Amino acid sequence: MWRIGLLFGLAAADLPRKVLLPSEVVAKTSAKCLDSSPSGFYIREQDPSKWVIFIDGGGLCIDALDCRRRAATSHGSSKPWPETWDPEAVPFSSAPSSVFHGFSQVFVPYCSGDLWLGMDHKPRLIVGDLQMSGHHILEAVVEHLVNTTSLRRSSQLVFAGQSAGGIGVLHHADWISSKLSSLSASPRVVVLSAAGMFFPSGWPVLWDEFRLGVEWPVDNFMAKWCHLIEGSFLHEGCQAAARAAGRAPSTCEDVSRILPELKADVFLMQNQFDQYQVLHLGLCPASTCTAEVSATSTPGRYLALLGRLTNATLGAAIQNNSRFGIYAPSRFDHTGDLLQDLAGTARSISGVSFKDAFGRWLAGLPTYVVAPSCSGLPCPKEEQVGAASLVV
Ligand SMILES: *[C@@H]1O[C@H](CO)[C@@H](O)[C@H](O)[C@H]1NC(C)=O
Ligand SMILES: *[C@@H]1O[C@H](CO)[C@@H](O)[C@H](O)[C@H]1NC(C)=O
Ligand SMILES: *[C@@H]1O[C@H](CO)[C@@H](O)[C@H](O)[C@H]1NC(C)=O
Repeated sequence: MWRIGLLFGLAAADLPRKVLLPSEVVAKTSAKCLDSSPSGFYIREQDPSKWVIFIDGGGLCIDALDCRRRAATSHGSSKPWPETWDPEAVPFSSAPSSVFHGFSQVFVPYCSGDLWLGMDHKPRLIVGDLQMSGHHILEAVVEHLVNTTSLRRSSQLVFAGQSAGGIGVLHHADWISSKLSSLSASPRVVVLSAAGMFFPSGWPVLWDEFRLGVEWPVDNFMAKWCHLIEGSFLHEGCQAAARAAGRAPSTCEDVSRILPELKADVFLMQNQFDQYQVLHLGLCPASTCTAEVSATSTPGRYLALLGRLTNATLGAAIQNNSRFGIYAPSRFDHTGDLLQDLAGTARSISGVSFKDAFGRWLAGLPTYVVAPSCSGLPCPKEEQVGAASLVV
């Protein structure tokens, strides 16, 4: 949302400005949106030593019609992109409590409909003559930033994303460091994934099946959900491990398979009750699965199952690799609350703000901030949340 008051209060030079990739770069790299318009980013350069590149979310297009509809919007084309971006939106927010306060900031809008993984070099018929080139977009953006800004000489880069972007950064978590070093840039890279855990192990369980007593996940859900981007970029270490174990590399589409294979320093921000996974993937109606369900009701047991599985997957990740940072509110939300946490305008988990947790983790301290739930369910009121387990 644009905040007009603030907008007028800022000099135009302070506003995050749009950079579309030059046509020769686009031609060489295929860094294009679904409709073949050039991709690009918004940038505000501040401290040259620390950078954030934040990649946006926006679902996945799951059939040709869906892709065609998307291609007519800013989620599939750069044509409608405004000249400047909301200066209060993540990662630009100017609040001193914002995690990225003072950083040189880059926001990359999501226009490829492919979880940032597609490697198309030209449009293809299967998605209605559109192209899915999210991986190429990331590659060209990073290279262009190294070519044209102080990123090359910076000492720190936070590579972050939310939702579909949270998935994208996990697949590219190890790739980004090797990409930068191939360009002779060597900042310390950390990866921050907000609401990118698609899925916790054991999920998605469909609501309609759960009601009938089934508690195990849909077979091959990820392969069906991601069928349009089959053959796209996937975390390389995960694919190698899958091959070694005799599993199909495509099983790496599921983020819970990538976690054990990550070499990068990764921070996971994840609601225990990810609303998107309940309403849009589990397909529980919004009027049935709410934050106020009772523990003994069927919707209550459904939410509690997702909460337990999310906790278990996060717990197993950090147990295996103590370099993970974890911040898991007990909220029934997808990214709305997490973006507020990042912008520094939100609540905290029992007095631990996200900025505190992230800063602690950057300083090398083990950080596992998991909010207590209310009897295994979302806490309807923040003040009901007791002390977080800040495990060290
Ligand atoms: C970056 O600069 C190199 C060397 O000049 C050039 O070959 C490459 O195409 C540029 N890449 C981008 C994405 O701007
Ligand atoms: C822990 O790490 C081992 C070795 O990399 C891996 O095989 C296993 O799947 C991991 N477990 C979890 C729960 O991440
Ligand atoms: C997740 O783990 C935390 C810490 O152990 C616990 O307080 C919370 O209630 C758990 N959440 C769920 C949904 O079980």
